[in-house]
Amino acid sequence: MAQQPLMNTYKRLSVSFERGEGCWLFDTDGNKYLDALSGIAVCGLGHAHPAVTHAICEQAGQLVHTSNLYNIPLQEELASRLTNISGMDKVFFCNSGAEANEAAIKIARKFGHAKGIDKPSIIVMESSFHGRTVATLSATGNRAAQAGFEPLLNGFVRAPYDDVEAIRSIAANNKDVVAILVEPILGEGGVEIPADDYLAELRAICDDNDWLLMLDEVQTGNGRTGRYFAYQHTYIIPDVVTTAKGLGNGFPIGACLAKGRAATTFQPGSHGSTFGGSPLACAVGLAVTDTIMNENLCERAATLGKRILDGFQEQLGGTNYIKEIRGKGLMIAIELNEAGSELAILAKVKGILLNITGGGHVVRLLPPLVMTDTEADLMVNTLSKLIKIYAADERSKPRN
Ligand SMILES: Cc1ncc(COP(=O)(O)O)c(C=O)c1O
Repeated sequence: MAQQPLMNTYKRLSVSFERGEGCWLFDTDGNKYLDALSGIAVCGLGHAHPAVTHAICEQAGQLVHTSNLYNIPLQEELASRLTNISGMDKVFFCNSGAEANEAAIKIARKFGHAKGIDKPSIIVMESSFHGRTVATLSATGNRAAQAGFEPLLNGFVRAPYDDVEAIRSIAANNKDVVAILVEPILGEGGVEIPADDYLAELRAICDDNDWLLMLDEVQTGNGRTGRYFAYQHTYIIPDVVTTAKGLGNGFPIGACLAKGRAATTFQPGSHGSTFGGSPLACAVGLAVTDTIMNENLCERAATLGKRILDGFQEQLGGTNYIKEIRGKGLMIAIELNEAGSELAILAKVKGILLNITGGGHVVRLLPPLVMTDTEADLMVNTLSKLIKIYAADERSKPRN
C-alpha cells in the first residue's frame, strides 16, 4: 500500500465527501449525512449555497488577487459592512482565526508599548482555544495542545473562565496587563456559557484599568449564537473582535475588528498579509454577510436553537447519563456524565455528523443556520435515540 502522504495532524473518520447541498453531505459511496457540525462552525449557510457559489464564480472570473499594495474596493465594502454590523471602527483582513487573533495580540502589545509598558501582558482563560500559531497556542488554555511546543511565548497571564474575582485579583497585582482576550462562549473548551453579566463585568474591569477588551468570536460570530456577534446579546462594546470561520462559509477569510484607540494602533509596516482581504475572499465575505443579514439568519439561529434544546431536554433531560444540555443559538452541547468519544463514529453510521469535545464528554452540535425544522427534528430524534442506547450499553459494561 502506498505510504500515507499527509502529516499526521488529524484523527480522521473514515469517510470522504464529494458533494454537499444545504445541510447534507454526500460521500463517495452515495450515502448522505446530515451535517450537524458545519465544518466546525464554518458553513453557516450550508453547502453549495447559491449566493456563495455565485460570488466565487463571478469574482474568480474577474479578479482573484492584487496584493494589499493597492486599493481593494471590495475589501473596503466588506469592512464597512462589518463595522456597521458590529459598531467597531476599522478592520484588518487575514485568512484564518489564528491570524485574526495574532493581529489582536499584536494590537494589545503595541497599545501597551505606547503606554510605556515594556513587557505588556494579556489575560487569557483556562480551557480557551485561540489557534495553533505559536502566539495563539501560547494564549490557548489547553496543555495537551501546547505540549511539545515549548518554549511558549511570554506575555500571557491565565485566569479561570467565568471568574471575575480572579481577573480583579490579577488587576490588583500585575501592572503589565494591557488587555483581556476571551471567547464569549468557550467553543473547543466544551461550549461553556458564562454568567449573563460576565462580559459586562470584564468591560468594567478593562475600563477601570485602561485595558483593551478583546473578544475571540472566531467560533461564536457570524450569527452562530443568535446575534451576529455573541457580545450583541449584551450592551457592551469591546475594543477588539476577531472573526473567521463562518465569515467565508468555507472560503478562507479572517478579520480583526477594532474600535477607538485599538483601531489606530497599526500603522503602515506594523502588520500585513499577502492574501488577506483579496478581492475573491471579500466578494465571498460580502455574499455571506448579506445573506445572513437579509435572510434574518441570526434570528433563525436563535429560534431554531431553542427548538433543538427543547427537543433534547424533552427526550434526554433528567436522565442519569446526561450532566447538562445547554446552548446559545446554534452552538449546542449535550454534556454526558461519561466519556462519549465513540459517539461521533456511531452518529456517522446513523448519518449524522457531529463532534465530541470538552475532554470527550461533550457532544457538540454546530448545525448550519439554514437548517429546517424537519432536519432539526430528525437530528434531535436520531441523536437522542443513539445517546440512550449508547448510555445503556456503556452502563452494562463490566467495571474494574
Ligand atoms: C475560538 C476560536 N479561536 C480561534 C480558532 C482558530 O481558528 P483557525 O483554525 O481558523 O486558525 C478557533 C478554531 O477552532 C476557535 O474556535
